[in-house]
Amino acid sequence: MEELRNYINSIRRDFMQRELNESSVEKMPIKQFAQWMAEAVDAQILDPHAMVIATANSNGKPSVRTVYIRDFNESGIIFYTNFNSRKGKELAENVDCSVLFLWEEVERQIRIEGKAEKVAEEISDAYFASRPRESQIGAWASQQSEKIKSREELEKKQKEYSQQFEGKEVPRPPHWGGYIIKPEYFEFWQGRPNRLHDRIVYEKKHSLWEIYRLNP
Ligand SMILES: Cc1cc2nc3c(=O)[nH]c(=O)nc-3n(C[C@H](O)[C@H](O)[C@H](O)COP(=O)(O)O)c2cc1C
Repeated sequence: MEELRNYINSIRRDFMQRELNESSVEKMPIKQFAQWMAEAVDAQILDPHAMVIATANSNGKPSVRTVYIRDFNESGIIFYTNFNSRKGKELAENVDCSVLFLWEEVERQIRIEGKAEKVAEEISDAYFASRPRESQIGAWASQQSEKIKSREELEKKQKEYSQQFEGKEVPRPPHWGGYIIKPEYFEFWQGRPNRLHDRIVYEKKHSLWEIYRLNP
């Protein structure tokens, strides 16, 4: 273990690929986000749509996990989950959340902060209907974030719901659907040599986006 600890203590790499300037960024952060997402997709990054989302309970105790962004637009970014999960419960207590995309292959990260709300039922319905059948059944079988006795119990529930919905469309469970995070803050980070990274922030002030640079 000591060898491993020494190794992680000594790993270094420089960031060389690109730069980011206030003068060349988009005026609207969602457009800048779209541009970087398109470049992450083009770079064939594995799971460019994976983002880490931090939520916190009403005491401010934080928790993080990865989810997939499934859509975005001028109003915000959308992901889907179980409303009764830990993250769902925390968002019910505290709508503030923070998201991170890490795209190491292009030496970039994006931070987004905002407030989450549930999307309209029709939007959750439409997305749920587009999911593979086994995932739809899984949304019924899994009481996400609750304790479960064994793997067998979960598989048994999957089988039971499979039988219940045989020959029928699987309806969206009432406890499953989308959240839209309405952003108030974006930070675009581009790795640069000698740890002198570029960090460009968009902060929403009275419904206008102020753009500024942070020290690395
Ligand atoms: C790459 C990846 C993508 C994931 N995507 C989702 C997702 O879109 N929705 C979701 O509910 N959980 C997703 N998960 C599982 C979550 O990370 C997490 O385990 C689960 O949502 C329970 O979190 P919670 O107990 O904090 O609510 C994903 C996990 C990984 C590693």
